[in-house]
Amino acid sequence: MPNADLLTRSRSAVWHPCTQMKRHETLPLLPIQRGSGIWLYDFDGKRYLDAVSSWWVNLFGHCNPRINSAIIEQLGQLEHVMLAGFTHEPVVQLSERLAALAPAGLGHCFYASDGASATEIALKMSAHFWRNTGKPGKTSFVSLQNSYHGETLGALSVTDVALFKDAYGALIYKNATVASPDSRNAEAGEDARSFALRCAALLEAHLQQHHAQLAAFIIEPLVQGAAGMAMYHPIYLTRARELCEQYQVHLIADEIAVGMGRTGTLFACEQAHISPDFLLLSKGITGGYLPLSVVMTTDSIYQAFYADEVSRGFLHSHSYTGNPLACRAALATLDIFAADDVLAVNRHKAAYLNRIAAPLHTHPKVKNFRNTGLIWAFEVASPHLDFAQRCFSLALEHELLLRPMGNTVYFMPPYIISEHEIDLLVERTLKIIDSLC
Ligand SMILES: Cc1ncc(COP(=O)(O)O)c(C=O)c1O
Repeated sequence: MPNADLLTRSRSAVWHPCTQMKRHETLPLLPIQRGSGIWLYDFDGKRYLDAVSSWWVNLFGHCNPRINSAIIEQLGQLEHVMLAGFTHEPVVQLSERLAALAPAGLGHCFYASDGASATEIALKMSAHFWRNTGKPGKTSFVSLQNSYHGETLGALSVTDVALFKDAYGALIYKNATVASPDSRNAEAGEDARSFALRCAALLEAHLQQHHAQLAAFIIEPLVQGAAGMAMYHPIYLTRARELCEQYQVHLIADEIAVGMGRTGTLFACEQAHISPDFLLLSKGITGGYLPLSVVMTTDSIYQAFYADEVSRGFLHSHSYTGNPLACRAALATLDIFAADDVLAVNRHKAAYLNRIAAPLHTHPKVKNFRNTGLIWAFEVASPHLDFAQRCFSLALEHELLLRPMGNTVYFMPPYIISEHEIDLLVERTLKIIDSLC
């Protein structure tokens, strides 16, 4: 099937996400026929290196044979059964394995399908916990400036991105934000750690004043993805954990984007040596195959719902909660982590990319070159107001799938990226930047 035919049909039948559809009058959609490893192929046989892991979900490449065969095996056994009143092997195994791997104390897994649903669940669970324990006034939340936790109404109420929020202002609960420890905002001469501690002091002031109404502080650990890959020092998380404890406010760690090895440890919270009260996972949990999200929480939160009265229970559900195919894909993903020593291999890959990227780092038009785990980002000083658009289009001509956020270019490649592919990614990105500056 030719590219053009599918484009026309998609434009008239599909309403694409996060898109002003009119822009596709001039900017073509990219029709993808198949994927293999780090590459996506269109119907004309052109290939694109998926440097954004298909919206940060893909870990081990497209059509990974090991995840494929696990899903196929599961398909022959059980494709789905409701999880209310029923259970199955993949969901039990996955819950046990996640509890063993996650920071201490997170022994209970509640499932949904997408990241935003996990956020909703954590917000509801937190407020409901306080209600069940005699503090019904603790119903508000605080998040970081420029936070992103998803786009359903509850998730938007703790998301701080005006473009996604403003049209729905009347429908969204008002919650406060506190200064982000984004190290780009440090003063001249101030290091990332000192800046993070200064921001933590502002968090403390907020908690001190509002803790009686606050259910939880929700945060993207180490990297605020949608804020333009804003990176910060782990000391902020360490302090946030202490402060939340002190002021009896839950700490919700949204590791939807940064969990599953993305920051260099399996969970980003490990780098601050903390356990949150809620840990949210999605995206990479199935290796980027199937929609699955999980909210992990502690015994004491679980116990506050465990009672004779139905109304004290957590009466939240989604039809596909704990879908066996998705759980099986997640188990296959965890198997790959264990069998291939992925975190150690990724450390070498990150060091290699950092070496190869020296010309980017020192490029006169590149600012704030930064890296955490397998995430890289930098700002480009370009005269073009539509830099993101131009960069995306030019990257496609160079066989790269880059999706800048404003003037921030980032790499978030699948972990199977080879040294040769890293060379290609960096060399071509340099060419693209040179021609846009
Ligand atoms: C930190 C974070 N939280 C939540 C979400 C929402 O996940 P989903 O798009 O699956 O609803 C995202 C998506 O990018 C995210 O980056």
